[in-house]
Amino acid sequence: MKPNAVLGLATGSTPQLLYRELVRMKLKWSRVKTFNIDEYVGLSEGHPQSFHSFMWENLFRHIKIPARNIRIPDGNAKNVEKFCGTYEKQIRAAGGIDLQVLGIGANGHIGFNEPMSSLASRTRIKTLAQQTIRDNARFFGSRSKVPRHVITMGIGTIMEARQIVLLAFGVKKSQAVAGAIEGPIAARHPASALQLHPHVTICLDDAAAAKLEFASYYRDTFQHKPVWQQ
Ligand code: F6R
Repeated sequence: MKPNAVLGLATGSTPQLLYRELVRMKLKWSRVKTFNIDEYVGLSEGHPQSFHSFMWENLFRHIKIPARNIRIPDGNAKNVEKFCGTYEKQIRAAGGIDLQVLGIGANGHIGFNEPMSSLASRTRIKTLAQQTIRDNARFFGSRSKVPRHVITMGIGTIMEARQIVLLAFGVKKSQAVAGAIEGPIAARHPASALQLHPHVTICLDDAAAAKLEFASYYRDTFQHKPVWQQ
């Protein structure tokens, strides 16, 4: 719908089908710009588990997007603070993010903003929580191989996107999803900050939605749309 859209992209298991579908749709990508939300610190770009590799494998190598339109945090930046400031400026110079795609960690993280991240945070280096290291060990074969640090957009950065789509599938995400949608807004549950955003769409399967107290109300709103929306 917007040929020059600026997209914020996430990695991990969750968005893989979305990227496959975007490839299948054969869209025109020549004017699209992308900003990835995070990257591990210390992995080479070519490491099979780097988010650079993930993005090329799952999306970029299948579409015709100019390489200059792609931005992914540099996990090997010599001056991390300077790099993060530049990344924020590049997002602003591109006109801001139109649509941010998010997954959610089992502990409620978005990007790699782990619990107790400032809700106003900007792009910076973060230390991964033990739970995230355990959860992501599946990609590395063992916990000890998971990098301890990442560069991630902040919650403040994410909240400036004009629209956000959060995807979550499976029972392992149900607690985090309930906290994000229905819990109190608190730094201990970073995704709860999304309650303050004016345009968030949350796509769940039944398992991920299982702990939502107001699920029947949400379903009602779909079944009984006001006349002007039908
Ligand atoms: C990754 C990212 C993370 C993941 C989250 C869920 O770029 O931003 O917040 O979205 O850790 O990961 P999966 O989808 O592997 O369960």
